[in-house]
Amino acid sequence: MPRPIQATIHADALKANLARVRNAAIDARVWAVVKANAYGHGIERAFEGLRGADGFALLDLNEAERVRALGWRGPILLLEGVFDARDLELCSRLDLWHTVHCDEQIDMLAAHKTQSGHRVFLKMNSGMNRLGFKPQRFRSAWTRLDALPQVEEISLMTHFSDADGAKGISAQMEEFERVTQDLPGERTVANSAATLRHAASSAVRGDWVRPGIAVYGSVPDFPEHDAAHWALQPAMTLSSRLIGVQELSAGDTVGYGSNFSASGPLRIGVVACGYADGYPRHCNTGTPILVNGVRTRMVGRVSMDMVTVDLTPVPAAGIGSEVTLWGRSSGGAVLSIDEVAQAAGTVGYELMCALALRVPVVVHEG
Ligand SMILES: Cc1ncc(COP(=O)(O)O)c(C=O)c1O
Repeated sequence: MPRPIQATIHADALKANLARVRNAAIDARVWAVVKANAYGHGIERAFEGLRGADGFALLDLNEAERVRALGWRGPILLLEGVFDARDLELCSRLDLWHTVHCDEQIDMLAAHKTQSGHRVFLKMNSGMNRLGFKPQRFRSAWTRLDALPQVEEISLMTHFSDADGAKGISAQMEEFERVTQDLPGERTVANSAATLRHAASSAVRGDWVRPGIAVYGSVPDFPEHDAAHWALQPAMTLSSRLIGVQELSAGDTVGYGSNFSASGPLRIGVVACGYADGYPRHCNTGTPILVNGVRTRMVGRVSMDMVTVDLTPVPAAGIGSEVTLWGRSSGGAVLSIDEVAQAAGTVGYELMCALALRVPVVVHEG
């Protein structure tokens, strides 16, 4: 028997979340963002749930090849464009749309011998200060691209730094609109947070939205809002079973570093899941966890292959009992990945992307 740990990808949740973001940006087309191997879900495993998208946005050519190998003939966008001039060949062969964010990428296109016209998304750095042309350089980049015979269509793009928070998007949006107002071409500006929080404005919706985290059911602006608020469903469950039980007396400690000490008699369970499975080591006593669908708390330190849980709320639990680290229990109880991430001082994105290779994954069609 393999260790009882397993991840489950819920195709029904992916479909429902996609419908949810579509509903938030009703007249926009949706790029489902599947970079980082579909945020750790696996491109091939997530595809069934996401095939209703209008396009797939990702970073790696090899991920684009995998999406084409699944039979997808629609648009695919390289969110960071090409990394090398030779990548442009593959863009033509795979019919990829690609972002252009710097002069060097325009140089590569200008030198590229191609029969087919390229569809590019010219990216503005409207304040995020990662990729893109500064507003004062944006129009000259557009003019340069427009003059290239290699380029068939130019769309316009920017990315928000604070769509999930108090600072919001208005300053970046105003800058983007000011500079691009008389330029032709489709627009895409909104990630999950901008789509859920700000897409009532048609300028924010643009022609395309680019949600990632929301389609996987994690909340971009947690803890201000939770999954119920945005009607999102977890697309990944990490589950395991109890493989040991210990009866503690007052003063007994648990695990490495003895950083948890029982204040009285306490029954604890030992779960087959540790940081080598992708469960964050920064979780500590108090992190929520479900045993037989009942919410309880982790106690002690996360070790490589095990975590320990307080069984007080689930006295009937024993070896073999179901444990839900995040996602849905078999009985339908939900523990949001955002809560576990918060306990570890991080975000749901990081936990899903860090699911370890050794964890077997199944797809539940739902
Ligand atoms: C350019 C771009 N667009 C869209 C997204 C999707 O963002 P989110 O997962 O927050 O929806 C990302 C993710 O980082 C991105 O880099």
